[in-house]
Order: sequence, then C-alpha cells, then structure tokens
Amino acid sequence: LSGFEGKHLISIDKLSNDELRGLLDLSKKYRDVYGRGSSVDPIAAPKPLTGKSVSMIFQKRSTRTRVSTETGTSLLGGHALFLGPSDIQLGVNESMRDTASVLSRFNSIILARVFAHSDITELAKYATVPVINALSDMHHPLQTLADLMALEDHFGDLRGKTLAWVGDGNNVLHDLMLGGAKLGMNIRIATPKGYEENADVLATTRKLAAENGTEDVFRTTVAAEAVKGSDVVVTDTWVSMGQEAEYEKRVKEFDGYQVNASLMKQANPGAVFLHCLPRHPEEVSDEVFYSEQSLVFPEAENRMWTVMAKPNMPNIFFTQENFVLAF
Ligand code: CP
Ligand code: NVA
Repeated sequence: LSGFEGKHLISIDKLSNDELRGLLDLSKKYRDVYGRGSSVDPIAAPKPLTGKSVSMIFQKRSTRTRVSTETGTSLLGGHALFLGPSDIQLGVNESMRDTASVLSRFNSIILARVFAHSDITELAKYATVPVINALSDMHHPLQTLADLMALEDHFGDLRGKTLAWVGDGNNVLHDLMLGGAKLGMNIRIATPKGYEENADVLATTRKLAAENGTEDVFRTTVAAEAVKGSDVVVTDTWVSMGQEAEYEKRVKEFDGYQVNASLMKQANPGAVFLHCLPRHPEEVSDEVFYSEQSLVFPEAENRMWTVMAKPNMPNIFFTQENFVLAF
C-alpha cells in the first residue's frame, strides 16, 4: 500500500487498482488482528493512532459510519470527535474552507458526511490532512470497500462474477459500479426511468470495464433483466437522506423494484444479496433480507475493518505472520 498514506479517499475511481487491492487486503489484516477470534491480546495490539485524532463531520444521520469510525479509531489508540450539524460553526458561521484549515491543525484525519459532493472536494482542497468521504450525494466509497470485502470473503476472486443493482441510481451504486468494474465484475443495473445513475460515473465505469476485461455495463428499466444470470443482487433505500419530501412519489415510481424471493430466482444458483443499510421493507422483502443468501450483517461489520485500513499510517505494517508492528 506504499504511497497511499496521506491521500484523500473521495471516491473509488480515484484509487488505483493497486490501492483498492491494498485497502481490501489491509482491511482483512485489521480484522485478523483486532477482530473477534484474533489471537492477538487486545492490550498488546498496536495502537498506531495513539496521540492522533479524527474529526468526523456529520451533516446527516449515521449508525454504521459513525460507530465504526469511532470504535475503529479507539481500537487503534486514537480519538474520534463526532461533530454533528449543530455542534460546530460550519454552515452557520463558518465556511468549509475555514473549517478545513482549522481542523487540519488539530486532527490527523478529517472524515465528513455531507449533502453536496462539492463540500467534500472543497474540504479536500483546503485540508492539509487526509479527508475521507463518509457519504455525499454522489459517492460512498467506504461502503464499497466493505461490500467488496464481503463479496471476496464469500466468493474469493470476483473476476467474471456479475453484480446486479436494482433500484435507485444513487451514491452507493456509483462507487460499487466503479469498484466492481475495477475488480473485474460485470455490472448490470435496473433503475426506473428518471432515476438512472450519474452519466459521468457510467462513462467512467464503462472505461474501467473495458480496461479490466469485463462485459460492458448493461442497463435496463426491468429488474428481472438485470438480475438474470447475476451472482450478486444489491439494492439500497429508494429515498436517500435529503429526499424525504419525495417519499410518496418515489415509492410509487419504484413499484416493481422490490428485491424479493421471486426476483432472486432469476439470479444464478448461489447468488447473494447485499444492502448497505439502513433498510426498509419496500426495497427488499424480509424473506430475502434475513435469508441465508443475505450478507448484509457481515457487510455492515466490514465497515469497521475498512475504515480502519484507510487511515493507514506510515508507521504501521504487517509481517508475513499477519502481525502488526508499529514503530
Ligand atoms: N451504510 C451506512 O453508511 O450506514 P449509516 O448511514 O448508518 O452510516
Ligand atoms: N443512499 C443512502 C445511503 C445511506 C447509507 C443515502 O444517501 O441516504
């Protein structure tokens, strides 16, 4: 992973294939050392973030991102500060630029969940420490790292596997299509008309698909067409944070896009289901969500191992024996 230390994590396409591979491998090593079942004494486990702090700016709610980052930072010996919408001057009395400059003088990392993606790029432009995008209206790269880790745990090499997205063409889809293509997965997408993924992200994914030898991205408005022949079926809420006023309209327009047992029958035998959570029954039935095919809870757990891997500092590395040395 050499060379990645100190870089921002803004979206998956900004990672080289080697960086993506490195982050996924490192996440698994963090799990080996800090996870349940590790033979490493938690007291003896290295604390490479000792004396370091992470500011976590949250303009929206969060369970997984907040708790995984706070817990992961504390396992590594650091301190994470939760800065909710009414905790700091940002957005009321202070700009993103000034916030970036000030927090960079206190913290080793700034993680931020924002509405407009331009807030993340502004933060990254002016921060002098690494910035981690913890979800914007366009991207959710931490989620993709966790998803790909769950899929590799289940399938091993993902090259040639087919991932079908059913539902809204949103932030979670964007990074997943970019990351899936980078790992050699075929991408199939079904969204209702008017809810397609961003055209630039689609173009980038098509380019990555060609570079990584996968099939071209397949698009449709028919859920069963996307799911047919797939190994992974993924969905997300139909109403992302900030879109609450569109709830009624969206639920109507997404009629027919629920992932349920009959839709899953179109997928390949052994296909699995993913959802970033939080989940609502309209987009996925209980039968699928709580089935053997569903990887949603390991996927959620991986949010911690993957966020721990991102703040990789130059002073931490792993030996052949999977043991961490910090110095
Ligand atoms: N998947 C995810 O980002 O969950 P939270 O909104 O709870 O952080
Ligand atoms: N697409 C959802 C993801 C939540 C983790 C949202 O943006 O609200």
